[in-house]
Order: sequence, then structure tokens, then C-alpha cells
Amino acid sequence: MGKFLSLLALLPTMGLAQSPFPESPTPADFHETDAEWVTLGRQLFFDPVLAGNNNIACATCHHPSLGTADAMSLSLGEGAQGLGQERTVAARNAPKQRIPRNAPALWNLGAKEFVVMFHDGRVEVDETSRHGIAMPNNRPLERPMPSALAAQTLLPMLSGDEMAGHPGENPIADAVAKEQITGKGGAWDLIAEELRAIPDYADQVAWLTGGEDIHISHVGQALSAFIGFEFRSLESPFDRYLRGESDAMTAQQLEGMTLFYGEARCSYCHSGPFQTDHGFHAIGLPQFGPGKDDGAYGYADHGRARVTGNDADLYRFRTPSLRNVTLTAPYGHNGAYASLEAIVRHHLDPIAALTTYDPSNAKLAEVATLTKADFKLLKDSLEVLEIAAAVELAPIALTEGDINAIVAFLTALTDPNAKTGRLGVPERVPSGLRVE
Ligand code: HEC
Ligand code: HEC
Repeated sequence: MGKFLSLLALLPTMGLAQSPFPESPTPADFHETDAEWVTLGRQLFFDPVLAGNNNIACATCHHPSLGTADAMSLSLGEGAQGLGQERTVAARNAPKQRIPRNAPALWNLGAKEFVVMFHDGRVEVDETSRHGIAMPNNRPLERPMPSALAAQTLLPMLSGDEMAGHPGENPIADAVAKEQITGKGGAWDLIAEELRAIPDYADQVAWLTGGEDIHISHVGQALSAFIGFEFRSLESPFDRYLRGESDAMTAQQLEGMTLFYGEARCSYCHSGPFQTDHGFHAIGLPQFGPGKDDGAYGYADHGRARVTGNDADLYRFRTPSLRNVTLTAPYGHNGAYASLEAIVRHHLDPIAALTTYDPSNAKLAEVATLTKADFKLLKDSLEVLEIAAAVELAPIALTEGDINAIVAFLTALTDPNAKTGRLGVPERVPSGLRVE
């Protein structure tokens, strides 16, 4: 298909309306961010003060040096120590289970088109919900928020395993256990109260709001401003090519792009400039880890159906953006594959890949008390059959050359500046707690 390929590859530079390729996003596609809110958000993002036991920050699971994620299939939350695969467990406060899903990367979430958050979309822009954003049960927004991203950032602080800690350990965890989230004395208010007692934070918020006391919504606004600014990443070879630099990508990457947006049908789901339709699809990834309390034994994860209650959504997960995908392994909602080639091959025949999955593909920290339960689901034929039955991706025959070209194209989605970020990691944070 040599001739077809070179013609298609020329289309964007010719500016034809029927180009199968998207346009490179511009700053106008993003929510505006204010430098002072970004500065505040940067401090909060790296500050363990948001955790009930002051022992884990957003950055622990979304670290810039690890592609804004944590390089593990399933994170170890509060109670563990260290970053990424070096994260270890001390006897005191050891996590009771792994976090059931993979920590996703945070690239480009400040773009206006990102209106659905989480692997199952349980936070999303929705006119019928309070303040226009759907939130999980019993966690309604107290005040309007600027975006779904801003609303999302208020939830990790309420998760016992992620940040809040467990009942008996601190007042925030106690409030969460009693489902006291909103209002005075609720978990969100207790977090804001801790921040109000730190003059640097109190002064910044007073200055930014014309004298208001810190409220949890200010925390979300600041965190989303920081994420939206810091992790905007649009200088990949792909972007440069789309903007007219005809030599920005290699011949093999161009061939892969043509397959991706054409014959290989990747863009059926990975559409648009960020390679996502923001929709939900079942592609049969092998499930492991503690699960989300679904199925007969609790180790299943029903994905989008957990939110909609609709059987048609069983095992559907949100199509991830593929920006900077070379930096964000392991892949999938539970980090089932550690290499790009392996997750791409999974797509070519999902049911075969599911039933022959080798658990050594997973990257799980060794924790003696957790390891035994990790792969229970994969030994449960009925659960595996259910995942297989939901798969909506038909097998597709690609040559080895095609697969190599597609993987080469995926590497062209990496922005060389992504690893350093824009503002980077702060040396210190207002609480005085240690920055990782
Ligand atoms: C213990 C690890 C951990 C910590 C700490 C953590 N996260 Fe996450 N984060 C995750 C996981 C896992 C998910 C996916 C959960 C899901 O989809 O059910 C996630 C999802 C997200 C998302 C959604 C991204 C998307 O594309 O849908 C955002 C945004 C986010 N986290 C920001 C934050 C912020 C801000 C903080 C600090 C307040 C934080 N996270 C703390 C692990 C963590
Ligand atoms: C039917 C929709 C659909 C099609 C077609 C599709 N994908 Fe996916 N892809 C998904 C979904 C959904 C996920 C996440 C699944 C999960 O988390 O369980 C995913 C995950 C991925 C990931 C992992 C990204 C990450 O950060 O975890 C890569 C890489 C990927 N797809 C590449 C491709 C390529 C290359 C093609 C074409 C050969 C393709 N996909 C075709 C829906 C699709």
C-alpha cells in the first residue's frame, strides 16, 4: 500500500477537509489558567498535608518523573513509602490492599474536551447534577467548580486506601467512615481546616479570593489549574507534523499513523487530537488485584456498568488518551501490560490474549500479605468468560511490519519536554512536610 500511504500522509499539509488526521490542539482548546492559582495548586499537589495521616501526596501516584503516574500496575496508597517500583511497605500502617485500578497519567486534562474523569467516568459534566457535574454517591459538590477535573481532585482525599487513612487513625478518616463528607465538620471541611492553620496557604487563598477562608473548592480549583497548566503537552513529533513540519516524523511513524487512523481502526475509539473518544468500550483486559467489590467474590470490576447500572456497559472502560504513552506504562485500567507492544497485540485478538495472559506482564510491588489474592479472578473461569463475552473489539489481522509501525507511531506521541514539566517539582511546600 505504498502509494496510498504517501498520498494519505500528504493530506494534512495540503489542508484538505477530508484529512483522516486530527489537527494539533492549541492553547485555545484549554481552560485558561491563572498563574497564582497554578502556583498554589503546585504546592498542594506535592504536599502530603492533604492526606489524613500526612504521609502521601497527589504526586506520589502521579509523579512527573514517572509520566504523571507511578509505573506500577496497581498503586500502593497511604501507609507505604517511596515512589514507583521502589515503593515499600513498613509494618506500621501497611496498606490493607492495593488500589484496585491503575493510576492514570494526567496529560492534557486541562483541555476543554476532557469532561469525563476516571476509568469508569464516575465524575463527568452532567447538566442534571448539582452544579452541573455528576459525583459519586454522598459526595455532592458544595460549590460550583470550574471543570470535571477540578471536581475529581476532591475525591482522592476521601479514599481510605489512597489518602485519607483508616478509622481510628485520624479525624478525616473517621469522618469518611461515618460518611460525613460535606458541611461543617465533614471530611472536606477538616482538610480545609488543616490548611487554614498554615499561614502561607491561608494568605494565598485570601489574596486570590478577596478575603475568603479556605474552602475545599479552592483546593480543587488550584489543583486543576496546576494539572491543566503543568501537564499540557503538545510538542510531540506528531504535533509538529500536524502543524506542517513534514520531516518531524520518520517514514515508519507516518506509516503507523496512516494505519492507526485508517486500516487498523484504532481511531474508531482513539479518535481526535488526544486519541480518545472519551467513550467506554470493553476490550477484555485480564482483571487482577482486589477488584471493585463486583461479581460473586468481589474481585471483579464491572467498569462503566458500576456508574450506569446498565448491563450493556459491563467491563467497559474509558478509552485512554495516548499522549506521552511511552512514559505511562503499565497500560490499561489495571496496568495489565508493561510494554506498548503487548497492549497493542492484546487489541488484535482480545479473547485469545485474555485467556492466555501471563501474570508476569503485571508490575506489582512485592507485599507478602497481598500477593496471595492478586490473580484469583484469572483462575475463575466463569468470571473470565464474562469478561470475554463483553468484548466488542473484533480480531484484526495485521502484519509484524504493521504492528511495528503502529508502535513507532505511538512513540511519536511523546513530547520530549514532558519529563521535565514546566514548573517542575517544588523544593519545599508550605506545610513543611517532606516532598518526594
Ligand atoms: C494512591 C495513589 C493515588 C493518589 C495518592 C492520588 N491518585 Fe489520582 N488516581 C489514582 C488512581 C488509581 C486513579 C484511577 C481511579 C479510577 O479510575 O477508579 C486516579 C485518577 C485520577 C484522576 C483522573 C484522571 C483521568 O484521566 O480520569 C485525576 C485527575 C487524579 N487522579 C488526580 C489526583 C489528585 C489531584 C490527587 C491528590 C489530591 C490524586 N490524584 C491522588 C491514584 C492516586
Ligand atoms: C473498541 C475501541 C478501541 C479500539 C478500536 C482500539 N482501542 Fe485501544 N483501548 C481501548 C480501551 C477502552 C482501552 C482501555 C481498556 C481498559 O482500560 O480496560 C484501550 C487501551 C489502549 C492502550 C493503553 C493506553 C494506556 O494508557 O493504558 C493503547 C496503547 C491502545 N489502546 C492502543 C490502541 C491501538 C494501537 C489500536 C489499534 C490497533 C487500538 N488501541 C484500538 C479502546 C480501543
